[in-house]
Amino acid sequence: MQILQDKKILLGISGGIAAYKTPELVRRLKDHGANVRVVMTDGAKAFITPLTLQAVSGNHVSDSLLDTQAELAMGHIELAKWADLIIIAPATADIIARITAGMANDLLSTLCLATDAPIAIAPAMNQQMWHAKATQTNINTLQSWGHHIWGPGAGEQACGDIGLGRMLEVADLVTLTSDFFADKYLQNQHWVITAGPTREAIDPVRYISNHSSGKMGYAIAHAALRAGAKVTLISGPVDIQAPIGCELIKVTSAEQMHQQALSYAAQATTFVACAAVADYRVADIASEKIKKDSDAIQIALVKNPDIVADVAQLPEKPFIVGFAAETQNVEHYARGKLMRKNLDLIAANDVAKAGQGFNSNDNALTVFSAIDKIEIPLANKNIIAKQLVSLINQHYLLKQSKK
Ligand code: C5P
Repeated sequence: MQILQDKKILLGISGGIAAYKTPELVRRLKDHGANVRVVMTDGAKAFITPLTLQAVSGNHVSDSLLDTQAELAMGHIELAKWADLIIIAPATADIIARITAGMANDLLSTLCLATDAPIAIAPAMNQQMWHAKATQTNINTLQSWGHHIWGPGAGEQACGDIGLGRMLEVADLVTLTSDFFADKYLQNQHWVITAGPTREAIDPVRYISNHSSGKMGYAIAHAALRAGAKVTLISGPVDIQAPIGCELIKVTSAEQMHQQALSYAAQATTFVACAAVADYRVADIASEKIKKDSDAIQIALVKNPDIVADVAQLPEKPFIVGFAAETQNVEHYARGKLMRKNLDLIAANDVAKAGQGFNSNDNALTVFSAIDKIEIPLANKNIIAKQLVSLINQHYLLKQSKK
């Protein structure tokens, strides 16, 4: 079954330049099985035609509150009741203000007043307008009513300004829509996840690190978020984007990750140590760039703290999941770490196998508890992450029930 199968989505388009992206948004939502109906403000029609939206949605586009023919086909109250979710994208400062004020002076604002469906708002406006007191007050009000605020993103704007105010990309809006309908079985849980590599400085320009891409940890963060958890992602330097909605704590070295992990894990229900933490750091980091004067140099290394093992020593410790990237005797080493580090679960992968593990998009895991061994077969890391998150939760609930 498709993720958005039979979901009824009412897309409200208001008058911003990002309206040109909405035909693509409609198509992608429909690709996932959604039935999309479009409502346009007068401003939206200055940027894109109703005919385009009608062609891609396969439905009549509504744009007037006072159109007798349209009211005969599907009246505004009927339309408001039809929707499982209303998405307003792009949402201008004007429509945001009108919804907050409870106005009903066009079809879209009226629908927002007449519906009991959840409303998601994807703001798009000049960065100064976004930061304006009026807009921020309106957004806070809408948030306090339970409306979902999706974005805005940062970057270059159509007006040439740079800053917050861009409508989120279509792919992000589609992800947020499918996350919205996902089963929220982790509600009230707080997951803290470490991800990516750490960098251990040698001098101001050089460091020791590893090939971890962060993809597995970021996929777990997204899967946990989608299932309704609050997620804190403590990440070493990576080139990928954090999932929208997680609390991202950027760190560089193992010592920084250690400090942040201990402070956040103390309040968490679940701690997942997915980071490839450098085992050693440079004993004395050179304050100036090391010159190549000698034929050989020696760098003394000292052991880094073991983050996951230290989290396991916390008096109020969360449910703890470690990772073991091994190249041989996977089960033997993984079980050794499970016991030695005092973990609840350990997810082991064979990084010597081609096409999985470090830097790859795919992975296969064997998850060990003190008594169990569960295989998660080779698949895309996003699929693996969903299965792993569900498995972790089953073991977490089991442990809770025994307390
Ligand atoms: O001992 P090893 O590095 O193989 O253990 C792997 C597990 O321990 C992973 O979950 C990793 O994130 C965690 N770890 C840690 N701090 C370290 C080293 C490893 O949290 N210094």
